[in-house]
Amino acid sequence: MPNASLVIANWKMNGNRELTKTMSAALREKLNQLQQVKLVICPPFTLIGELANQCYYDDIAIGAQSVSEHTGGAFTGEISTAQLQEFGVSYVLVGHSERRQLFAETDKMVNEKALATVNAGMTAVICVGENKAQRDEGNTWEVVAQQAKAALANLPKEQAGKIVLAYEPVWAIGTGETASPEQAQDVHAKLRALLVEQLGAIGEKMPLLYGGSVKADNAAELFAQKDIDGGLIGGASLKESDFVAICQAAQ
Ligand code: G3H
Repeated sequence: MPNASLVIANWKMNGNRELTKTMSAALREKLNQLQQVKLVICPPFTLIGELANQCYYDDIAIGAQSVSEHTGGAFTGEISTAQLQEFGVSYVLVGHSERRQLFAETDKMVNEKALATVNAGMTAVICVGENKAQRDEGNTWEVVAQQAKAALANLPKEQAGKIVLAYEPVWAIGTGETASPEQAQDVHAKLRALLVEQLGAIGEKMPLLYGGSVKADNAAELFAQKDIDGGLIGGASLKESDFVAICQAAQ
């Protein structure tokens, strides 16, 4: 039986005001069947306010897809933790592979953004994952461990409860090629051990999400893995029926 506890939708640069309405309505209709699962939606910045208003009474949390590591000032195009919080944001994706690849986010920036997020009292969803070449060369764990350790550097143990790790193999993102449940569980088990080693007993309880072509028809077997506590969903989070089905698979 799956017992995943957290499902996060990452709309990326997709969606519009209409989707905020139809998605919140679709989830609201099924909420009584989803009481064991924490739901988070990360829309583009411009839709955060509207979605937050619609989801407030349904207890669906709102996330941002990125945040600045700086608190404010002359950083054109950036957004701060305080500005996100003013609109009810409680989760922030940090270090998504698209931010690392396309916007040159380094391990150091990922670490600074994660610390800024938890210090502001929000939950940081730190994304890690290897690309195809790194997997083919047998370096999956080396890459993932290095990214995770760098992202968690200088994190006070008492802030560990505000960290979620998402394993997202880059070769599985938006490709339709999902990691097998065994491949994903293998990395998740190692991440679990790393968290316990770095942060102590709380590492056993920190949510580990899998992301990468999770769909309605493969979610249940992924969520059934011992160390997979939920999913970070991209493409399939844009269609109400698909996303609802994935959330139901987590229950
Ligand atoms: O943040 C979500 C991931 O990048 C997964 O995206 O479900 O479209 O493969 P995907």
